Amino acid sequence: MTAEAGLPDTLRDLPAWTPGPVELADLELILAGVYRPLTGFLGSFDTAMVIAGGRLADGTPWPVPVTLSVPKELTDHERLVLQDPEGVPLAVLRVTEAWQDPTSHGWRLAGPLEALRAPAHGPFHGLRRRPDELSIPQEPPAGKLAQPPEGGRPPTPPVNKLVVATREPLHRKQLGQIRQVSERLGATVLVLPLLGGEHDESLVRALLGVRRELPDGAQIVPVPLPVRGAEQADPERDVQLQAHVAAAYGATHLLADQDVEGTAVPTVVPEPWAYDADVEVWRPVARIEPDHVQAELTRERLDELLDAGEPIPDWFTPPAVARELALARPPKLSRGITVFFTGLSGSGKSTVARGLADALIERGGRTVTLLDGDVVRRMLSSGLTFSRADRDLNIRRIGFVAAEITRHGGTAICAPIAPYAATRAEVRRMVSAVGDFILVHVSTPLEECERRDRKGLYAKARAGVIPEFTGISDPYEKPDDADLTLDTSRMSPREAVDKVLDLLVDGGWVRPA
Ligand code: ADX
Repeated sequence: MTAEAGLPDTLRDLPAWTPGPVELADLELILAGVYRPLTGFLGSFDTAMVIAGGRLADGTPWPVPVTLSVPKELTDHERLVLQDPEGVPLAVLRVTEAWQDPTSHGWRLAGPLEALRAPAHGPFHGLRRRPDELSIPQEPPAGKLAQPPEGGRPPTPPVNKLVVATREPLHRKQLGQIRQVSERLGATVLVLPLLGGEHDESLVRALLGVRRELPDGAQIVPVPLPVRGAEQADPERDVQLQAHVAAAYGATHLLADQDVEGTAVPTVVPEPWAYDADVEVWRPVARIEPDHVQAELTRERLDELLDAGEPIPDWFTPPAVARELALARPPKLSRGITVFFTGLSGSGKSTVARGLADALIERGGRTVTLLDGDVVRRMLSSGLTFSRADRDLNIRRIGFVAAEITRHGGTAICAPIAPYAATRAEVRRMVSAVGDFILVHVSTPLEECERRDRKGLYAKARAGVIPEFTGISDPYEKPDDADLTLDTSRMSPREAVDKVLDLLVDGGWVRPA
């Protein structure tokens, strides 16, 4: 079927479902043959066996449960179309089992997959290769094709293939180790950037940027392999899964930080390297005089430099990587941030939020978007009620917009009631993935809010005219994760704004006045 072809008539009536990011990645790898021998999502028995002992029910080693969760409504169909986040159908699942996860009680569907079209969502699709496409050169040489040397046979290709699967850029140390290991093994190198994080583009660009520092002929092929959810996150099983992927791509060896037993291809752990401060090169620690050994930058030190906008030293990483690190974690002064106020109606959220927005605009240096509760209710969320479901939807919409503003380096100031802790936590997660998040609890007591009653709503709520009113007839869950708490019955609006400003200056997001 061509990429343009629509859904065949026979499939048009099937229900469709968009799996989550990890499941979509699994689906792509199943269809590409990378997860051989898997041909679909696992059922309850296989899953239990994999979790317990790292093997499928038939004894084949398999490290992680590859399952598909669906809402209960989708569990009584024989076939289901699986689509990408834009609604493009990717595959048909022939359901062999609908089962309930024993821990979460969520529903799962198992069964083989039939490909409809190659997935094309996600960045760097032009670089992706299925294992069977790997012989196709990524960058054909301009002009004529490569010729065998005069009068001789073409050189025999190396028999070994070292796979480097990574979610992090490669710095000078790793680059040196890779050259050393590949030389020792007489291996070609295939780098697999593992996609699924927030900074996939940066990762791939950082790896493309050091191509010349990799052994000749090294290839770079992005593979979707996100980190699995907390209950499945197990570093050893992750290496085992990477080894399966590496094997599918023809690897003879997988570079790893630690030796892991029973992997699909053997792991190779490079010998320790360090920077030789005397001759200014990276090399094996064994070859450096002890007092010239300089350790690499720790993650903490690297983050400090990036937060302050200071240059990342050239001895540590090539400039192309440094550039991408800085883009992925901009200096705090220009990093996107969301300041999220929560509190009862009438607590003073809007006043302080507006005061903060004005103060930031007056200081300059940051673009500001104010997402006030009442304004959002008129624009983004008109028509929503004050039921729990609608309040959650309202907060999720605010969170979505705030995260986009934050992703682009802006400042989002939000001021809804946001009465539920779980929904606030969801917003914190969404924003923190792309920038920084600060929660301000405007803790003005209910009695004071009710005494102010500027909009006359508390009176109506007490009279029962307005149902489900927060604080009166509907819950407010006080935050225990607030970065700042402000009681506006004890301070002026100006003081409250100053406290938030102080926090932003102390944290490095705003220049001192
Ligand atoms: S939230 O719960 O979804 O976060 P939001 O901040 O958007 O609430 O809207 C709160 C504003 O709506 C209040 O300041 C008040 O003016 C108005 N309002 C109307 N009905 C209610 C209600 N039942 N509970 C709380 N606020 C209400």
